[in-house]
Amino acid sequence: MRIGVLTGGGDAPGLNAAIRGVARRALQLGHRVSGIQNGWAGALQGDIDELAPEDVRGILHLGGTILGTSRTNPLKEPDGVKRVMANLKRFGVEGLVAIGGDDTLSVAAAMHEAGALVVGVPKTIDNDLSVTDFCIGFDTAVGVVVEALDRLHTTASAHHRVMVVEVMGRDTGWVAMMGGLAGGADLILIPEFEVKVEEIVAHLYKRRGEDRDFSIIVVAEGVQFEGLPTGESKTDAFGHVQLAQRGVGDALSRMIESETGFETRVTVLGHLQRGGSPSPVDRIWATRLGVRATDLLLDKKGGVIPVRKNGGVSIVRISEVVKAQRKVPRDLYQLAQVFG
Ligand code: F6P
Repeated sequence: MRIGVLTGGGDAPGLNAAIRGVARRALQLGHRVSGIQNGWAGALQGDIDELAPEDVRGILHLGGTILGTSRTNPLKEPDGVKRVMANLKRFGVEGLVAIGGDDTLSVAAAMHEAGALVVGVPKTIDNDLSVTDFCIGFDTAVGVVVEALDRLHTTASAHHRVMVVEVMGRDTGWVAMMGGLAGGADLILIPEFEVKVEEIVAHLYKRRGEDRDFSIIVVAEGVQFEGLPTGESKTDAFGHVQLAQRGVGDALSRMIESETGFETRVTVLGHLQRGGSPSPVDRIWATRLGVRATDLLLDKKGGVIPVRKNGGVSIVRISEVVKAQRKVPRDLYQLAQVFG
């Protein structure tokens, strides 16, 4: 069989480990592999190349993706799905592994409906896919946040400042919550739970009253509250606003300083969270899921995705993981409040 592999959406550390897993398993069993360039864009344009064994050696530790990525959405293109199907046929691709988050996987689900043999692999630093306990890139991103918080603690303490740290998280606050918990944040603001500015201010005064003269606030870029900018309306092909341009961290830090007079600084971690070498957890699970994705295709099982569930690999329908976003539960939010 010839297996095609693509990576779509925002890049995440561990994508190359997954590509390597998919390709090395196929090659081990005597099959051929094609790399589709730049996500669904390459599938639409017929930008598809043979992946030789040497192409997938020495890439386990590399961030980014050797295949490139894009936020192109074939469902928004005239005859998009038909064109993708035609190109796969033209390049002899009989089974496809789509490595991505909810956007990329929604297209994979549509391709399955249209008759393609396609399986998914879960990826997104946002960690917001349903069902799966793991998405490629999340563990590394949390590590970046924790390292930043450790560094910011010492300078915040030296200057008795409030430090606002803006992290990624469009609709959910997984990176903020797990990064904040592991990095000892004093306040974690996430899209799932609304907080008023007065509450933030009261919290900061309380800490000062208890002789804790610095504070670290982690804020997910997707939070909404009164007084924050709504941002530009520029959207991508999947309809997502570019949240980084809203400047939530900056706006929050200015609000805090004007309400309290406490010296406040902001750090926006941005794409640092998506770059660089993947953590061991991301490498291991990307490898396991990539290999399993190939095995599923070779068994002619399409429309499914291998995910980490209760410590092992489970196979579920792609449509299940994209049905709803997995939100941070209240018990974790309450856990964080113990340490405010
Ligand atoms: O989808 C993952 C994500 O990292 C979000 O957390 C973030 O809002 C978005 O991508 C940023 O996308 P881009 O790199 O296209 O600006």
